[in-house]
Amino acid sequence: MTRFRRLRSSPNLRRLVQETRLSKDDFVQPFFVVEGKNKREAVPSMPGIYRYSIDTLLKAVERYRKAGGYAGLFFGLPAKKDLKGSEAVNKNGVIQKTVRAIKKEFPDFLVITDVCLCSYTSHGHCGIIKNNSVDNDETIAVLGRMAVSHTEAGADIVAPSDMMDFRVRRIRDDLEKNGFLNTVILSYAVKYASAFYGPFRDAAHSAPHFGDRKSYQMNPANAREALKEAKKDIEEGADMVMVKPALAYLDIISLLKKELTVPVVAYSVSGEYSMIEAAAAKNWINKKDILLESLTAIKRAGADIIISYHSEEALKWLSQNP
Ligand code: PBG
Repeated sequence: MTRFRRLRSSPNLRRLVQETRLSKDDFVQPFFVVEGKNKREAVPSMPGIYRYSIDTLLKAVERYRKAGGYAGLFFGLPAKKDLKGSEAVNKNGVIQKTVRAIKKEFPDFLVITDVCLCSYTSHGHCGIIKNNSVDNDETIAVLGRMAVSHTEAGADIVAPSDMMDFRVRRIRDDLEKNGFLNTVILSYAVKYASAFYGPFRDAAHSAPHFGDRKSYQMNPANAREALKEAKKDIEEGADMVMVKPALAYLDIISLLKKELTVPVVAYSVSGEYSMIEAAAAKNWINKKDILLESLTAIKRAGADIIISYHSEEALKWLSQNP
């Protein structure tokens, strides 16, 4: 007689037969970095998330390490923006200085950098504008230089998030030409044009000043296209591929996990974070339970790695559980 409730009848039985487990090794925490000293600017739409200057960032990374974290995704917010996003390739730009400082202080901490122009351009688009549209080939030339400059500063992994065509090939070529054979490319291969990025644009000052990102980011209604994007990026030299956002796109994570053999990364984005925070602040939900359930669902769908603004908190909760 099959009785499903048998295996659910005690906490330890449930524990014994659990199929998916979150591990402390699953997480990557994003960090925002600004120029200046002693800064810790709150992001109103993302309570608990700050824009740090390098000195305070080092303390935040130290705290994250103490919680068990070992990898971070870093976003630079330059003091000056211009049409071409020139600060993105400045040797002494905010992200380059950040990477050097982290590697000096914590050499083994895995540093992942976001490679995209949107917080560096005055118009907020992810590339160089020509005839009112983002020019693919001019943009990837800058992205290649940007990836090389992050690597020169010490980045372990570069993560292009712009959604231009052939950017992975261009970045891989430029890295090889400069002798960086071991830089990992984590491609934001499947990045949807999503309303879930709203709070991030507040955090990173990167909202487009005209139009939207629909001519380069994917249509949320498309699934097969995700597989095409991911396969192409792997062909061009990506070591890992990302699906973004996460919770509304579990089918896409699962599809990539089934069809591909590279690590699949899920980015649980700013809007996912803010919705949980907002509802929790009203006591409408149990934050810890909702969060661990959501993260478990992302992993169950097939994510090998989860990028989440809640990583530090998740690590703390996981270390309290048996
Ligand atoms: C940059 C970039 C974005 C995010 C990561 N890299 C925003 C965008 O495309 O507008 C979103 C991350 C988030 O919402 O947490 N292109």
